[in-house]
Amino acid sequence: MRPSRFALYLLLAAGTALVSPAQATDLRALYSVPQEQWPAPIVAPGNQVTPLAALPENATHTESADPGTSSLLKARRELGKSLFFDPVLSGSGQHACASCHDPDLGWADGRRFSFGHNRQQGQLNSPTILNAGYLKELFWDGRAISLEEQAAASITNPIEMAGNPPEIIERLQAIEAYRQLFEKAFGDPEVDFDRITAAIAGFVRQRTTTATRFDRFMRGDQSALNDQELQGLHLFRTKGRCMNCHNGALLTDGKYHHLGTAFYEVGNYTGRYSVTKKNEDFSAFRTAPLRNVAVTAPYMHNGLLADLDHVLAAYNMGWWQNQPTELGRQDPRFAQLSPLIQPLNLDQQELQALKAFLLTLGRGAPYTTPTELPR
Ligand code: HEC
Ligand code: HEC
Repeated sequence: MRPSRFALYLLLAAGTALVSPAQATDLRALYSVPQEQWPAPIVAPGNQVTPLAALPENATHTESADPGTSSLLKARRELGKSLFFDPVLSGSGQHACASCHDPDLGWADGRRFSFGHNRQQGQLNSPTILNAGYLKELFWDGRAISLEEQAAASITNPIEMAGNPPEIIERLQAIEAYRQLFEKAFGDPEVDFDRITAAIAGFVRQRTTTATRFDRFMRGDQSALNDQELQGLHLFRTKGRCMNCHNGALLTDGKYHHLGTAFYEVGNYTGRYSVTKKNEDFSAFRTAPLRNVAVTAPYMHNGLLADLDHVLAAYNMGWWQNQPTELGRQDPRFAQLSPLIQPLNLDQQELQALKAFLLTLGRGAPYTTPTELPR
């Protein structure tokens, strides 16, 4: 029997209803409205999350954190740039900040673990410095709360730069070109350690990426994300559950969680606990900001995973609960997998879309030519 026109219409209507919202055109419509009207993020009950956002185009935080007239500020950043690239700050005279935060390598170093003074290996993966000026707590365990404090810690860390402040000051004072740079930056040629870290922090604060395709999309440019990337954004906010922890303009909640990446008594496994001494912070690490994640492999505090496919596979299976070793069994602090982590059941197509979205979060900053070192 031939179906009547009406039946055909019903069939077609049912067909349209069956088209999942993941279909490109529908998704486009869902995301063409102000963010308040986007599909609600899928987050755990009671978990308050900050909406995703573009970074402000002018890095205004640089001015407020770094008072001074604009000409002094400019000179201070120039000085900071020279210091960032200059191994004169290290005990051996061979390591600069740029050794482990290389502009060619996403301002990180592409290694699982960085190596520093006397080629000693640390236990942590070097994060990018891009957008670090926006972070409230620095380092994987958040132990530094300003870039100045952070720079001082890196310079004096015996396995990083192993620098000795009085010796560094003496060395810089002996270089006429540096005395001139300090004069331009601070009004007089005096070299002291606070000025050194202030200048470096000023330079780091300026390393921002605020015009990624993600930022453009968040500012309303629909053409900034293609259909696959848009699907990835949707999954990031919903079925992928990433928004539970990666949210706001930096795609981090600034909190600390345990995913199973830290193994009892292996490497740096205490994480945030070393700062707070709270049992619930044991083996918890700061939610990594995801901007420029395309160029900062390997991933996690210990460089455990080589590429984004591995990272997504781990999330898809719901990470893991580590089994305690003999000693771990006796330790009341032994970490439990974050309850915010669950298996996701994403298929290959969805994983690829999620990855495509992560790649829109930036691919590093325009190349920065190191200045000729003042000598
Ligand atoms: C030997 C390699 C090495 C050197 C040299 C080095 N860093 Fe780092 N940097 C790291 C590692 C590893 C971390 C993560 C350490 C941690 O979390 O405890 C880090 C963390 C940082 C962070 C924090 C980023 C974040 O997301 O929290 C900033 C900013 C930074 N370094 C800037 C600098 C500056 C400025 C200098 C020079 C004064 C410097 N680093 C020298 C390896 C290095
Ligand atoms: C429970 C909170 C939580 C959830 C949910 C979560 N993450 Fe993470 N993410 C973290 C933490 C914490 C780290 C750092 C862990 C470490 O270093 O041991 C991290 C690290 C990462 C990294 C590595 C970044 C780097 O620079 O090393 C990527 C990529 C990432 N997450 C992507 C995602 C994606 C995609 C999702 C959703 C599928 C997601 N995350 C869900 C907390 C979370």
